[in-house]
Amino acid sequence: MKNTVVTFQQAKAEGKKISMITAYDYSMAKLIDGAEVNAILVGDSLGMVMLGYEDTLSVTMEDMIHHTAAVSRGARNALIVSDLPFMSYQTSVYDAVVNAGRLMKEGRANAVKLEGGKRFEEHIRAIVDASIPVMGHIGMTPQSVHAFGGFKVQGRSEEAAKQLLEDALAVEQAGAFAVVLECVPAALAKLVTEKLYIPTIGIGAGADCDGQVLVYQDMLGMFKDFTPKFAKQFADAGQVIKEGVRHYIEEVQTGTFPAKEHTFKIDEEVIQKLYEQV
Ligand code: KIV
Repeated sequence: MKNTVVTFQQAKAEGKKISMITAYDYSMAKLIDGAEVNAILVGDSLGMVMLGYEDTLSVTMEDMIHHTAAVSRGARNALIVSDLPFMSYQTSVYDAVVNAGRLMKEGRANAVKLEGGKRFEEHIRAIVDASIPVMGHIGMTPQSVHAFGGFKVQGRSEEAAKQLLEDALAVEQAGAFAVVLECVPAALAKLVTEKLYIPTIGIGAGADCDGQVLVYQDMLGMFKDFTPKFAKQFADAGQVIKEGVRHYIEEVQTGTFPAKEHTFKIDEEVIQKLYEQV
């Protein structure tokens, strides 16, 4: 059954945990969707794990639309949430609505996500007014990496913790259907989760959030440039891929591959004639 924003509301009401994983292309979306995850995030993390940038700042609307459209062709039942990239919504409320609309219309997303709290209340409200579901994202918001002075845990001091709670409440009041809490102390994430009606989705925010999200390359051992403390590795697909590729190279070198069953036939007479002619 297709997951929707209603599934998220029901899950919170019933105390059922929500699962969300990133995907950026058709075949991976199909695999992840087939495992029955609740939501797929086409995150702007694609800038780092798919495109090799050192942060998410260079990701464009065109990148997001391209990857979101591929994911939406591969996923049937997961709710597809697509990230508004850096400078696609910060510039104005108008830009926020237009670009959220593009992710829905051209990317076929089911919802959009944007980073920032109280400062983006108006942007969130305007997107929601255009009938586009919005997922908020507060705490360590990677698009603000330079403003934070690096990828750091947020909300540790009394003042910062208070600000984070205010941001969460503002995002909820603006009409968001859920909010991602990234790199937030577990006890603070628990408190925020208890204070909100909408579900919290944690990444580095402890087990008391209403759901969890991870970047698939981190959880499947496919990206080793940088491993965040919160990223548990659930399988070593990176190793499986390397072994498969090495095995292929070996069989190519020894001539074992391709075998008879991987080749196509031609009538012996046809080939014989050709030999005689040339
Ligand atoms: O871009 C992304 O993948 C994200 C998650 C880390 C929440 O925003």
